[in-house]
Amino acid sequence: MTDTNAYDEVLYPEAAYPQTHPNRLAVIARLLGLSPEPIENCRVLELGCASGANLIPMAEMLPESQFVGIDYAQQQVALGQAVISDLGLTNIQLIQMNILELHDQFGQFDYIIAHGLYSWIPANVRDKLIAICKQCLKPQGVAFISYNTYPGWHMLAMSRDIMRYRIRDIQSPQERIEQGHDLVRFLAELRHKSNSDTQLARFMQIYADLLKESLVLSEGRPAAAVFHDELETVNDPVYFHEFAAHLERHGLQYLSESEFPLVMLGSLPRPVQEKIAGIASNLIDVEQYMDFVRNRTFRQTLICHQDAPVNRRLNPAHLLSFFIISPAKVEPGADSSAGQFVGRDGIAYATDDDVVREAFNLLIDVYPRGLTLAQVVQDARATVYASRTPTTTVQQDAERLAAHFLQCFSTSLNLIDFRVHEPAFVTTVSPKPLASAYIRHQVTQNERVTNGLHQPVQLEDGERILLSLLDGTRDQAALVDHMLQHINRPADMTLEQAQARMSISVQEMLGDLAGRALLIG
Ligand SMILES: C[S@@+](CC[C@H](N)C(=O)[O-])C[C@H]1O[C@@H](n2cnc3c(N)ncnc32)[C@H](O)[C@@H]1O
Repeated sequence: MTDTNAYDEVLYPEAAYPQTHPNRLAVIARLLGLSPEPIENCRVLELGCASGANLIPMAEMLPESQFVGIDYAQQQVALGQAVISDLGLTNIQLIQMNILELHDQFGQFDYIIAHGLYSWIPANVRDKLIAICKQCLKPQGVAFISYNTYPGWHMLAMSRDIMRYRIRDIQSPQERIEQGHDLVRFLAELRHKSNSDTQLARFMQIYADLLKESLVLSEGRPAAAVFHDELETVNDPVYFHEFAAHLERHGLQYLSESEFPLVMLGSLPRPVQEKIAGIASNLIDVEQYMDFVRNRTFRQTLICHQDAPVNRRLNPAHLLSFFIISPAKVEPGADSSAGQFVGRDGIAYATDDDVVREAFNLLIDVYPRGLTLAQVVQDARATVYASRTPTTTVQQDAERLAAHFLQCFSTSLNLIDFRVHEPAFVTTVSPKPLASAYIRHQVTQNERVTNGLHQPVQLEDGERILLSLLDGTRDQAALVDHMLQHINRPADMTLEQAQARMSISVQEMLGDLAGRALLIG
């Protein structure tokens, strides 16, 4: 639907997207030769910002930067404005406006975000979106645009057509979601239900797997997301080469995907790499052929001006200005001295280089915080050379480590990731713990909140209650007292016993919250 009512009738689920954060965009921009403004003092525009759930936590964490969000859905914008006013934030404004009316009245921006917009708006609005990027992006700026892509959407379109046919006469949004989903689910499970092995049944099995992978049928996906993402009147996927041509018509160019490892041809099997290298005549071709191989359904692309000084030769020297983080773990069953690591996505990394191994161990220890390259080199050398004479210089170790980190970053962000700015969260529990005002607001509305890395974090009820109390005025004893008011003490438990139990639980929860980047003091 293209009128304002669709998003006011069924509000889009509130979410923050780490991949849109300037802290991530700036990393790729710098790696590829651009010099966008430091994110501590930048200007960010979000188009289709809904109720500001992506923009508000950015604004809270970067108080010297300026944030402008535009959305035409009145109710969503009003909700966001109320939160901004409650939090007393003065560096962010959400404006109810059709992007067709936007030109340069809010000035130029270092970062522009349009998540979930390009494919879901009519052609003239889509063209305007790209024109805004040209007009409002500073010369060294970066814009993030996500969109549905072919060839993957040729297959997904089948589920959309089925759902839209089923609900063609149904008015109630809730009914539309339920009935549409119900029929697709039934068809996707057909093979299982009929227990047959016909060609159709085999196809339905493949189709069901595809739908699960692509989120259409994934568990826990908010119904409102299905309502808008799959059932909207406008849903126009494009081939990547068409998107790139659209950019070119507006004097813009493709910079990278926000998921950096996806731009690496080396992530595909060697025969595929060779085939693509043999037939592609330029970067856009390479990306398009990779989409065919991956049956890609969705892209999250970074773009910049056509005349921006893009340099695609990755230079490890850039790491000198980054914070390096590692969400990896020591390979299960291995010892930390083994040099075997694995990311959440199962991608493994092994090294027999002592300095690299110790560097990984250090980064894993401090995660979710990061370290600068200089800190990692110094600390890793201190461990490795505690009982033997160094065989390499600091400079040599720094260069080798930077090259390893860059290689890991290009393979999986679950092994190594970079930030240009160290977010203001703490990983140790202070005497009077503090959570951000926005998190304390979020826990009253949602089971999910946005942490200091701008990631969504799912919470238990007890954690939500505890977080709501963390305004920096209460010590652990006071927190225990407050938490006790929220439970029904069993008749056979004394107050002292309940206090002792709650005290352990509060301590554990606080440690856990700190480990998930949810405390700022
Ligand atoms: C699919 S939602 C995405 C919301 C958010 N960016 C996200 O990804 O969670 C699309 C948003 O764009 C807004 N929108 C659509 N067309 C618009 C237009 N022409 N001008 C301003 N906002 C628009 C809708 O109101 C809605 O909030």
